[in-house]
Amino acid sequence: MPDDFYVVVGENRRLLREVKELRARVTALESSRWWRVHPRFLLRRLSKPAAASEGAVAAPEAVPTAAAQDDDPLLARFRREVVARGSFRDEQSVANARTWEQFLQQLEGREARILEIGSFEGMSACYFLWRLPDAHVTCVDTFAGASSFVARGDDVSGLEAAFDQNVGLVDASRVRKIAADSAHALLELLDEGQRFDLVFVDGSDLALDVMVDACLSWQLLAPGGVMIFDNYIWRSPLGEDPLFQPKPAVDAFLGLVGRNCQVITMSKEAIVQRVELAAQSNGDGALAETAP
Ligand SMILES: C[S@@+](CC[C@H](N)C(=O)[O-])C[C@H]1O[C@@H](n2cnc3c(N)ncnc32)[C@H](O)[C@@H]1O
Repeated sequence: MPDDFYVVVGENRRLLREVKELRARVTALESSRWWRVHPRFLLRRLSKPAAASEGAVAAPEAVPTAAAQDDDPLLARFRREVVARGSFRDEQSVANARTWEQFLQQLEGREARILEIGSFEGMSACYFLWRLPDAHVTCVDTFAGASSFVARGDDVSGLEAAFDQNVGLVDASRVRKIAADSAHALLELLDEGQRFDLVFVDGSDLALDVMVDACLSWQLLAPGGVMIFDNYIWRSPLGEDPLFQPKPAVDAFLGLVGRNCQVITMSKEAIVQRVELAAQSNGDGALAETAP
């Protein structure tokens, strides 16, 4: 065989490998919720009714609006009363809120203390404020956007202004905003002796940051309190490396505190409730733990 033949075969194999890798990255990107609110994608959706009336064939990647996906009356009312009046670029944010009902109901009528790590434009903060009119929400965010969507070139400008405007629609007087990196902010909350009934971990999606957020906010969680890890099952558009995903960090963390918490759900989100175990001597000088 001439040498050229082997060069062409080698080159062909390399190109096929590259195409495969690129396809995998596009699939990961398209599966992210942030991609669905990409301005180009939104524009395509908005222009669709006009194109259809001219007899054009609808594009196959049509995404139903968040409101159209809601079969939950509470969520539909929230979208009408708050989202429709606010300035939100991500409509999907609180799609999991129906799962939260089981423990939000227990916080009704109480001055519940909620800690949110990662607020973005305030959609989830608005939901907590709207759903629990007596609750106070502490929101921690750099308002610089998560590294995965900054790396992707997403528009993360004006987050803090949008947050202020949106929470103002519900009740800004029940919000404490901390515009800082969570690693610093959570240590300060610990110093202040704060405790929370609910912690919503939705900040950085990088595994080591999630681990730091989990460890610090666990100490801020009151006994019986609930911790939600949003985006538990989420494939980073940055790649397959475990350091880019929240899941390995959540799994490692729950492996450590597992005896002190009850799992409420482990699906798209991981939700656990803290249970306090009383330490007792077992008579041999060793400590045994029993639930109270
Ligand atoms: C997924 S968004 C939060 C979405 C919001 N909870 C909602 O449902 O509307 C993640 C947010 O975390 C913030 N963030 C990322 N890393 C952070 C860090 N280390 N400390 C504080 N905030 C961070 C980003 O600025 C971004 O606004």
